[in-house]
Amino acid sequence: MRVGVLTGGGDCPGLNAVIRAVVRRGVQEYGYDFVGFRDGWRGPLENVTRELGIPQVRGILPRGGTILGSSRTNPFKEDRGVERITENLAALGVEALVAIGGEDTLGVATKLADLGVNVVGVPKTIDNDLSGTDFTFGFDTAVNIATEAIDRLHTTAESHHRVLVVEVMGRHAGWIALHSGLAGGANIILIPEQPFDIERICTLVEQRFRLQYSPIIVVAEGAVPAEGTMATVTGQIDAFGHVRLGGIGDRLATEIEARTGKEARAVVLGHTQRGGTPTAFDRWLATRFGLHAIAAVHDGDFGKMVALRGTDIVRVDLIEGTGALKTVDPSLYSEAEVLFG
Ligand code: F6P
Repeated sequence: MRVGVLTGGGDCPGLNAVIRAVVRRGVQEYGYDFVGFRDGWRGPLENVTRELGIPQVRGILPRGGTILGSSRTNPFKEDRGVERITENLAALGVEALVAIGGEDTLGVATKLADLGVNVVGVPKTIDNDLSGTDFTFGFDTAVNIATEAIDRLHTTAESHHRVLVVEVMGRHAGWIALHSGLAGGANIILIPEQPFDIERICTLVEQRFRLQYSPIIVVAEGAVPAEGTMATVTGQIDAFGHVRLGGIGDRLATEIEARTGKEARAVVLGHTQRGGTPTAFDRWLATRFGLHAIAAVHDGDFGKMVALRGTDIVRVDLIEGTGALKTVDPSLYSEAEVLFG
């Protein structure tokens, strides 16, 4: 059988580890051959492929990014998008697809599976906001990068008696902010799920300075002020309707400085959270996801996503992963709030 593989959406440490595991097991155990589709859904849509076999996956386990490239192409926004994909798959003799992606890429996979395309999904995103799985790969690496940055910022904040606002990724879900903020001992953590009160933040900042320490605030890029308390901005929209974010860190720092008189600076971690080599946990998870995804193809178990439950890899319906975002439960946030200030 010929199997296509694609990686879509924001890149993420561990993508290459999944590709390697899919190909290694697929070739060695099942005798499959593979087609690598370039740049997410753009590949099957525009018939852009690259060779994908054992030689192409040698040495890529620890490498960040994706050897297949990625994009945020949405075939459902393109003229004859679905027809072009099915025609191209048929012309190449591709009978099954392994789609590695987050809510958008797997959202497309869910719709294509409903239309009869043989697809198995692998949940990828540093945001950890896909339902149905305890963790997505890439998240652990992003949390570790952010935690290291927070550790480093504590000492410089204290030397200069400054507030440091650390902006991390997470447009709809605050998992990176919550986990790295707890791990790095942040004094305040702000997430998209809980609109913040700027007055309360300033009170906590002043309280922290009275203890002779400098506050570190970790803010998810999608965090928003409670209505009417601070101005908000909007950005460009992508093919999946998401606003391009960034800027809350700077706006918070400016507001805190104006309200408290304390110097405040913002550090935006941005794409450093997605770059470079995956942690051991992400390599382990990505590799196991890949091994199980190609096993699902072999079993003809299409329309499924592999998922982590405890330490087991299971298969769930794609819609379970993409139907609703997994956001931070209020009880988890309250737990963290005990340590604010
Ligand atoms: O979905 C992963 C992610 O890194 C989000 O955390 C972030 O909001 C978005 O991608 C940024 O996307 P881009 O790199 O396309 O600007």
